[in-house]
Amino acid sequence: MAVETQTLKVNIGADRPVAPPCIFVLFGATGDLAARKIAPALYNLYRQELLGRNFYVLGVARRGRSDEQFRQEMFEAVGRHSREQIDRTLWNEFAQRWGYCTVEAHEQSHFAALGERLGRINAEHQTGGNIIYYMAITPDAWGETIENMAGAGLTRPLQGGSFARIVVEKPFGRDLASARRLNERLLNFFDEKSIFRIDHYLGKETVQNILVLRFANAILEPLLNRQYVDNIQITAAETVGMEGRRGPYYEKAGAMRDMMQNHMLQLLALTAMEAPSSMSAESIRDEKVKVLRALRPLTPEEVETNTVRGQYRADAKHPGYRQEDGVAEDSPVETFAAVRLMIDNWRWSGVPFYLRTGKMLAAKATYVVVTFKREPLNLFVEGDCDMGGPNMLVLRIAPDEGADFILSAKAPGERMLLRPVRMEYRYDSAFASAGPEAYEHLLLDAMRGVATLFIRGDEVEASWRFIDSIRRTWDVSRKPSLIEYPPMSWGPQEAGALFEDPYRQWYNPRPR
Ligand code: BG6
Repeated sequence: MAVETQTLKVNIGADRPVAPPCIFVLFGATGDLAARKIAPALYNLYRQELLGRNFYVLGVARRGRSDEQFRQEMFEAVGRHSREQIDRTLWNEFAQRWGYCTVEAHEQSHFAALGERLGRINAEHQTGGNIIYYMAITPDAWGETIENMAGAGLTRPLQGGSFARIVVEKPFGRDLASARRLNERLLNFFDEKSIFRIDHYLGKETVQNILVLRFANAILEPLLNRQYVDNIQITAAETVGMEGRRGPYYEKAGAMRDMMQNHMLQLLALTAMEAPSSMSAESIRDEKVKVLRALRPLTPEEVETNTVRGQYRADAKHPGYRQEDGVAEDSPVETFAAVRLMIDNWRWSGVPFYLRTGKMLAAKATYVVVTFKREPLNLFVEGDCDMGGPNMLVLRIAPDEGADFILSAKAPGERMLLRPVRMEYRYDSAFASAGPEAYEHLLLDAMRGVATLFIRGDEVEASWRFIDSIRRTWDVSRKPSLIEYPPMSWGPQEAGALFEDPYRQWYNPRPR
């Protein structure tokens, strides 16, 4: 049952304010993230005329490069990774505003030189004295970097400017204690409103749409609470493994730190939060942090029965996790994690939330599924007539972006046979244009000083508090044990047992 929707033509660029004059200083400019995500996002913003003319990108890294070499590397990177084909003429024009500066994190003199270069760029390109520092480097590296930046007076706006902001990438710590230390370190040099902690999931159109579906549709919100909801599931499944390069990073992270602490808990917070008093960054983040603080930490006994950790093994076509480059032969790191958790607040008390994420799973799919309680009395009890099942709301974050309502309907014929039917809303048929990439949205917001889609320090700490309650048991008693699962499956079967009821199960996306 498809919902009739008129295709709306949305010119995404039309109503988006442009970035103010500024210099975008890209630390980690020779790294993977810069090439795959940041440079293509900047190019696409420029292509849509969202960057204005008084804009400059200064790449910064340890390795030596001339401006010209750096521009050529970025041209190739954008050519490979941009969502829109690169236009050589447009790139040449944009590349005039790209430069490179070699900086070693421990060399104070390099920061003085960086300061001089920024001053010259500011004067030549009239960037208004405003700076965005984008830390596409790990926290181990940016700690020393910001101290040396501060020593050279770079944590303040340049002459005539109104802002110096810092954007930091995950991982933001590896537990509560280290996240607190990072927060303290940042707050020594920048105030909270100048710190932009990135979670790229918040830049996805469909993730932002969770708030719209919930709070701009009067029929939905009254149902989303303990009275009507049986359980909520959040899945972020990936088909990729370590992609030949991610093993060394993943060995220090695992699924719990890589996906659960950030992306999945953010999806949970948006799904479960109360209505904010306005759409301001602070109102929304205030409501999210209340949910994160209401997560009930798991006791060691609960960790054994309410969590599952798995690791993909090899099969004829795929290497196992332990055979991946940069991974130890006896690695205990989980590539799959599932958790059953409770939110101790008025709205959700008693409603279980099931979260799972993993690598090398059967599909690339991220979605939130709300399963509603059954109707109070089943009137359709004759023989095998009721195969309707509970109502569900499925929010498809990616791919096949959209949302489904699963309802019971009468199958045509003499008998009263109930079957599940799907009411479907698809982004690609409802709206004519694809939305911007998550990073485009987030970079532009950081330049404009809009912090709504960035994580506040207290949210990070509340998330880690919950994750630590699980990790402690996993790390110390190694319980529950690590279970191997075959590549391209839905992970260890034990994850199904988290439901403690054969009629409740993980919802797996239907093949399209
Ligand atoms: C990143 C993780 O934050 O998110 C990766 O570090 C993961 O391991 C990626 O693959 C998934 O993002 P997306 O947007 O493809 O779902």
